[in-house]
Amino acid sequence: MTLDVVDSLRSVVGAAHVLTDPSVTESYAVDWTGRFAGSTPAVVRPASTTEVAAVVEWCADNGVAVVPQGGNTGLVGGSVPLRREVVLSLRRLDAVSAVDSVTGQVTVAAGATIAAVQRAARGAGWEYGVDWGARDTATIGGSIATNAGGSKVARYGDTRAQVLGVEAVLGDGSVVSHLGGLVKDNTGYHLPSLLCGSEGTLGIVTGARLRLVPRVDERVVALLGFARVDDALAACGLLRRSLPSLEAVELMFDDGLALVCSSFGLSQPLPAPAAAYLLVECADRLDPSDALASAVAALRSTGAAVATEPGRRAELWRYREGHTEAINLLGPPHKLDVTLPPAALAAFVDSVGARVLTVDRRAQVWLFGHAADGNLHVNVTGVDPSDERIDSAVLDLVAEHRGSISAEHGIGTAKKQWLHLNRSAAEIAAMQSIKRALDPHGILNPNVLLPS
Ligand code: FAD
Ligand code: MLT
Ligand code: ZN
Repeated sequence: MTLDVVDSLRSVVGAAHVLTDPSVTESYAVDWTGRFAGSTPAVVRPASTTEVAAVVEWCADNGVAVVPQGGNTGLVGGSVPLRREVVLSLRRLDAVSAVDSVTGQVTVAAGATIAAVQRAARGAGWEYGVDWGARDTATIGGSIATNAGGSKVARYGDTRAQVLGVEAVLGDGSVVSHLGGLVKDNTGYHLPSLLCGSEGTLGIVTGARLRLVPRVDERVVALLGFARVDDALAACGLLRRSLPSLEAVELMFDDGLALVCSSFGLSQPLPAPAAAYLLVECADRLDPSDALASAVAALRSTGAAVATEPGRRAELWRYREGHTEAINLLGPPHKLDVTLPPAALAAFVDSVGARVLTVDRRAQVWLFGHAADGNLHVNVTGVDPSDERIDSAVLDLVAEHRGSISAEHGIGTAKKQWLHLNRSAAEIAAMQSIKRALDPHGILNPNVLLPS
C-alpha cells in the first residue's frame, strides 16, 4: 500500500518531490510547539495547481487522506499527519505576481510567505494589512486556512477581510478559481469566505487575490507600563477612541516580560517594572508621535519607552513577539487562544490562573495577547502536555464568560473536542454537510475541526 502511494505520487510530481526518508519527513510530522507529532509515508511537494489537483484526485480515488501544510507554524496541531496521512506541502507554489498598483491588489500562490507578500506590497507603495511574528515562515495558504489574525486586526481586519478571491482544489480534485479581483461581485456563495478558516478540510488553497492597504511610513512605537491590569485594559479603549492612526495594541504581563528578558538576555524596557504592559504602534503619512504622546498623557501609565527609529521599534516589538518562543523553551505548552467580551476580560485574567491550578498545582500560566481585539493567549507550562483537563479548565471558563475558544489560531486537533462550547448542534451539522459536499471522500485533513 505504502509503496503504491509513493510510486503513484512520484509519477505525478517527479521522484525528487516525494520525500519518504523518515529523517527528512520527521520535521513535517511534528508541529511548531512539539506537542503534536505523527508520521507519514510521504511528503509530496507539487509545483503547480495542476499537480496539486492530480495528487488530490489520485488520493480521492484511492481513499488516501491528505494533510495540507504550508509553513507548519500553526499552533493547534492541524498541519501534521497524526494517522499516517500523506503530507501535501504547498511551499513550492511560492510565486508573488506583480502588484496591481492601481487597484492595490496582488495575486499570490499559496506557498508564498507573509513576509514575501509584505515586501512585494511595500515595493509598490502598498502594504499587506496582516502581520504577525511568524511572517518569515507562515504562508498565505496557511493563513487563509486558519484565517490568521495578528497584531493589526483592529485597523485592517483579519485575513478573511483581505481575500478577494481564491483558487483551490476541492476534495475530488476539481479546481475552483476566482481571482479577477472585482471588489463588488455578488454572484452567489462567497467561496473565499468559506475557505477562510476551513483549516484544510474543504479544499487545498493554491492561490489568492489579496487586497492591499495604502503604505504609511511614519511610525511610532510605545511600550507603556501600568500598575493595574484594569488600567491597561481601560487604556486600550481610550487609545482606540482617540487615535485614528492606531495600528496595534498588544498586551503583556510582568511574568511574561521577565521570561522574555531572561530567555534572550534583554534588559527590562522600563526603569520600574509594572504589572501589565501595552505595546502600542501608530502609523500615518505624517509623524503620529505627538498624537500618541497626548493620548498617553491621559492614561494612568507608570512609564513609557518610545521609539520612532526602525531598529529601536523592532527592539520594543521583541519584548512582545519573543513570548511564543520563550514559552516554548520551557517545554511543549498548552496553547489556548481565546477572545473575551470586553466587559469580561479583566475578570477572566484574574481567575484563569486559579482555575488551572485546581487541575495541577505545578502549572505556570502565561498570558499575553492582542488587547485591541480582546484576544488573550493563555499558555500553560509545567504540566503534562497531554493532560486535556488543563485545556478543559481554560475553555470552560471562556465559555462561562461567553467568549470564543479560538480567536485566531483555529480549532485544529487541539480544540476539536470543545467545538460544542461555541457552536450549536445545528451549526456543526451544517458544517458537516458543507464538508461532505466539498470533500465527498473525506480525505482532506480528517483530524481537525469537526467531530469525526
Ligand atoms: P500551517 O501551520 O502549515 O497549517 C495551518 C493549517 O492550515 C493546517 O490545518 C493546514 O492543514 C492548513 N493549510 C496550510 N496550508 C494550506 C493550504 N494551502 N490549503 C489548505 N489548507 C492549508 N497566528 C495568528 O493568527 N496570529 C498571530 O499573531 C500568530 N503569531 C504566531 C507567532 C509564532 C511565533 C508562531 C510560530 C505562530 C503564530 N501564529 C499566529 C500561528 C500561525 O503562524 C498561523 O496559524 C498561520 O496562519 C499558519 O500558516 P502556515 O503556513 O504555517 O500553516
Ligand atoms: C502571538 O500573538 O504572539 C501568537 O498568536 C503566537 C502565540 O499565541 O504564541
Ligand atoms: Zn496572536
